[in-house]
Amino acid sequence: MVGSALSSYKKRSGPCEKERAQWKKFTACECSKHDTLRDGWVIIFDRVYDITVFAVTHPGFDNAGQVSTALAITRNLGKDCTAEFEYTHSLTAWKQLSDFQIGVLTCCGDPNCPECSSLTEAQLTMMRGDDNAEDEVNLAPQKHPLPEWLPSEVVNFWQRYKQGLTDQLARYLEAAGYPQTRPEAAAPAQPPEEREPAKRRSIGWRLRRLAAGGRT
Ligand code: HEM
Ligand SMILES: [Zn+2]
Repeated sequence: MVGSALSSYKKRSGPCEKERAQWKKFTACECSKHDTLRDGWVIIFDRVYDITVFAVTHPGFDNAGQVSTALAITRNLGKDCTAEFEYTHSLTAWKQLSDFQIGVLTCCGDPNCPECSSLTEAQLTMMRGDDNAEDEVNLAPQKHPLPEWLPSEVVNFWQRYKQGLTDQLARYLEAAGYPQTRPEAAAPAQPPEEREPAKRRSIGWRLRRLAAGGRT
């Protein structure tokens, strides 16, 4: 049945050990750097999604001046938005979301890291199950994911970005505390594709470091 097939995309809990082993691990602090519409990630149920190419095409993103959806998305970039995503989305959206996954969440082990040290005990416990191997399997695509179902105009990301991020919307986001670089200011031919390689530290090392910092 279509309904039950779709419901398998609604992942309402974090990835199991087997799933985690298949994905690249991104620390919460690494995710927090990807907080703009030019390069935006979100964390949902401990999975990391690069939604850059989708964000400005999102339903209602700039709907005749009704810009609350744009703000809802923009202010969640670089962050964990599990509850908000779950609250606002249908099964179809969950299915679409799965095409943007680039990895799973981990911690850097620095007790002074604001993002990683605020992970919950449940999240840290889940990370403890990760393999200690320094080399991780990497299913993450090198570029920002661009699923086939996205409209073809998105192939030219910068053009779509320029259309999606109007002057009015840019002013609104800036006033709300989320300034975005306008396309005129910097318009490379292609979206940024560089992705810094994750520092190869085993999860055991990270968790021991976190524990040594006084965290219980
Ligand atoms: C790749 C990531 C995303 C996809 C594929 C996606 C997809 C969709 C879709 C298809 C809808 C229409 C209603 C539905 O079918 O559920 C929707 C609505 C909505 N989404 Fe997303 N979304 C994504 C990310 C986000 C994020 C990160 C936020 C902010 C937390 C967000 C906030 C909203 C809101 C507020 C609505 C309601 C819009 C309205 O009623 O006008 N979305 N999304
Ligand atoms: Zn960190």
